[in-house]
Amino acid sequence: MDKITILKEKKQQALAGGGEERVDTQHKKGKLTARERLHLLLDEGSFEEIGMLVTHRSRDFGMEKETYFGDGVITGYGTINGRLVYVYSQDFTVFGGSLSETHAEKIVKVMELAMQNGAPVVGLSDSGGARIQEGVVSLGGYADIFYRNVQASGVIPQISAILGPCAGGAVYSPAITDFILMTENTSYMFVTGPNVVKTVTHEKVTSEELGGAHTHGTKSGVTHFTCANEVECITNIKRLLSYMPQNCEDDAPVYAYEATDESRPALDNVIPANPNQPYDIKDVINELADHNSFLEVQKDYAESIVVGFARIGGRSIGVVANQPAYLAGVLDINSSRKSARFVRFCDAFNIPLLVLVDVPGFLPGTDQEWNGIIIHGAKLLYALSEATVPKITVIARKAYGGAYDVMNSKHIGADLNFAWPTAEIAVIGAKGAAEIIFKKEIAESADPEAKLKEKEAEYIEKFANPYIAASRGYIDEVILPSETRTKLIKGFRMLENKVAKMPKRKHGNIPL
Ligand code: HXC
Repeated sequence: MDKITILKEKKQQALAGGGEERVDTQHKKGKLTARERLHLLLDEGSFEEIGMLVTHRSRDFGMEKETYFGDGVITGYGTINGRLVYVYSQDFTVFGGSLSETHAEKIVKVMELAMQNGAPVVGLSDSGGARIQEGVVSLGGYADIFYRNVQASGVIPQISAILGPCAGGAVYSPAITDFILMTENTSYMFVTGPNVVKTVTHEKVTSEELGGAHTHGTKSGVTHFTCANEVECITNIKRLLSYMPQNCEDDAPVYAYEATDESRPALDNVIPANPNQPYDIKDVINELADHNSFLEVQKDYAESIVVGFARIGGRSIGVVANQPAYLAGVLDINSSRKSARFVRFCDAFNIPLLVLVDVPGFLPGTDQEWNGIIIHGAKLLYALSEATVPKITVIARKAYGGAYDVMNSKHIGADLNFAWPTAEIAVIGAKGAAEIIFKKEIAESADPEAKLKEKEAEYIEKFANPYIAASRGYIDEVILPSETRTKLIKGFRMLENKVAKMPKRKHGNIPL
């Protein structure tokens, strides 16, 4: 056989993965193959493969007789919407996509190229975990990847799609990356599977219940996007990347935007007359953001806070907003953790922040206190305080107690603080305040209930407004809701060249 034909044959073998039968099995499970996924993800014709002819080095358990070109992972680079991205895609048809020494080396190689060249890494996981025949060599391979994940953290965006099993320590690489996407009914993640769980805790649970997309999208918050299928998942990856710069020294892409009438009259009626009545903060976000530009992150987890990417005037921003339609928008452990991590991503990658405030305070109770609301609530405070990107706050309604400070107040470094006329900025709610300050007067009154109402009204009159904060300069301007978008476009543009630095140090010590 001539040399050209030999090469062609080898490449043909590599493209066949684990063979037709296993590819059929993959399809029958409702899953695409590793190559089909890359074909969907990357711009047509842009993929360049690296390490196609790599094979494993295992000589135990008859493995020397079974080798496949590529060794269960396809690695390389290509473009998404014209922008460079490094990829790896595990091939479940080859040893169940399990991670061998060489499989790990291939992933490490693209991660290092990505870091050196400043472009994101997208990993598509579909793997039975450590290659059992290889033992500790495979564990070492995982650790080599974890180490690169940490090195790359905050340097280049890292995205993980879980499109099949992901068990054992294998879940820790995705956990360190910035965003995790999962597909419903075909993916799962857990540290120990149902069998071990049954042995140790006697709980009976299916893989799906223990670590499926729904579980991680609603209960644990491990996943950021739950997708109905792989096509939706890949569409989401592309959309997610469109808000991000290529690396920490770059800026996010700017989209074409033509200034038109930016007033949003509907917002003047969005806050209900009754301050205890909920409304959906996402309606506000959608009015403020460029049309259809809001991409919510972790939408079914810790729903009292909404986080996500949007564009204002064509430029990427990160939005953090209390959600009055869910538990009155209260801050609790999970909402603090969720939003703090999001803020840190935006800050690491030069994405300005918009914080919308309507928060009654932190959630009281033994459950919260015993599980460490003090430490976890401090995460958001810490993250917003250390963020040096442009930061704008709009107080829509309530900003009570410590939550006023935490939600990007002027005092922790916000650049522009706006309030709507409906804003209520005070230490505690009027009823609680009246009960404490006027305790004696109320108790001694002939009609304590009427007295409480009277004192409550007095407190509301005095404090439940934005004007005291504005008189002190804590609020830069009290604005009409309808003019908020205009103010934001101008404000973010004004802050475009902001330079702010934290004191020199090795790293801070965020309360973990
Ligand atoms: C080698 C593996 C493998 C593995 C699967 N295969 N997992 N080969 N090492 N870890 C192979 C199978 O032998 C089979 O080969 C093919 O992949 C498909 O597997 P099936 O079992 O037929 O598929 P399915 O029924 O879909 O089940 C998938 C599965 C199961 C749930 C992932 O294969 C499984 O439980 N695998 C073992 C998982 C595991 O214990 N991994 C180690 C975790 S510990 P053929 O030739 O028949 O196609 C770990 C430590 C990491 O990962 C630590 C990091 C710090």
